Amino acid sequence: MVDKFLEGKGALITGGASGFGRGFAFAYAQRGADLILVDINKELLEETSKKVEKETGQKVIPIICDVAKSDQVQNMAKQAFEELDNIFILNNNAGGGFGFYKDPFRVKEELFDKTIALNLKGQWLVAKEIAKKMKKQTFEPLAGKIIHTASISGVRVDPGIPDYSISKAGVIAMMQILAQSLAPRITVNAISPGYHLTGAYRNNLEAMKMTMDEGHVKTPLNRYGTVEDVVEVSIFLASPASNFITGHNFIVDGGIAEVGVPAHYFKSDI
Ligand SMILES: NC(=O)c1ccc[n+]([C@@H]2O[C@H](COP(=O)([O-])OP(=O)(O)OC[C@H]3O[C@@H](n4cnc5c(N)ncnc54)[C@H](O)[C@@H]3O)[C@@H](O)[C@H]2O)c1
Repeated sequence: MVDKFLEGKGALITGGASGFGRGFAFAYAQRGADLILVDINKELLEETSKKVEKETGQKVIPIICDVAKSDQVQNMAKQAFEELDNIFILNNNAGGGFGFYKDPFRVKEELFDKTIALNLKGQWLVAKEIAKKMKKQTFEPLAGKIIHTASISGVRVDPGIPDYSISKAGVIAMMQILAQSLAPRITVNAISPGYHLTGAYRNNLEAMKMTMDEGHVKTPLNRYGTVEDVVEVSIFLASPASNFITGHNFIVDGGIAEVGVPAHYFKSDI
């Protein structure tokens, strides 16, 4: 029996049509939340929204919005608060990367701007519009919770994806700034996934394996990451069990960033 700790609460998930966002949507709706799912992929957004609504019986409102555009984010936030009387959980999750480079300076200016606009400015714009009203909510002991999706590449920066790494390091910094400024009524944390099969790899395991091989990535816990691995941590961060935690980045990567590669992975007698 699932604990419906989100009953009477609203959750807004950006990038809600696919991957982690879709996983958060099912998990929160199963726990009683009504949802606003935000995405730019109209077809997938409609498909996911209908599926979550049908399987959970919760209200699911799809809103098409490019999170990198302030006018669209303002309209989206207005519509969100018209549809639901509260947003208790904000999953600031939409994001992605656009290429790999041999040299950090090879990233074209246009692509650098695109990555920063989507991953960093997008999360900032959404947080700004939603937090304004979230902080006035009268729930106790907290008015709301914000959960950002960052990445291990924002912790162990990767010169092969400089724009992406810089944007995700920025997300972690922004999360800490918001945790300070929105305390004591709103908690703000981040989840930093490692390598998990989602739309980011076109849901193609071979493409993800190739990326990991090229980066010489070894996972101490010796398996690929799943959407569920990240969803489980988001359930904890959305629940009362995490009410005394704010300003933290939760790395969910099978040990890649923190533990590193243990000796037995090296084919050596030393
Ligand atoms: N998959 C991984 O291994 C991994 C690792 C670290 C971090 N991440 C991060 O996880 C988050 C979710 O990505 P995912 O892996 O689930 O991939 P995904 O491609 O399955 O989902 C991302 C969703 O964001 C939407 N989106 C893209 N641009 C948008 C925009 N401008 N406005 C609104 N929506 C937009 C896409 O349409 C898509 O539905 C991203 O922030 C990504 O950087 C993923």
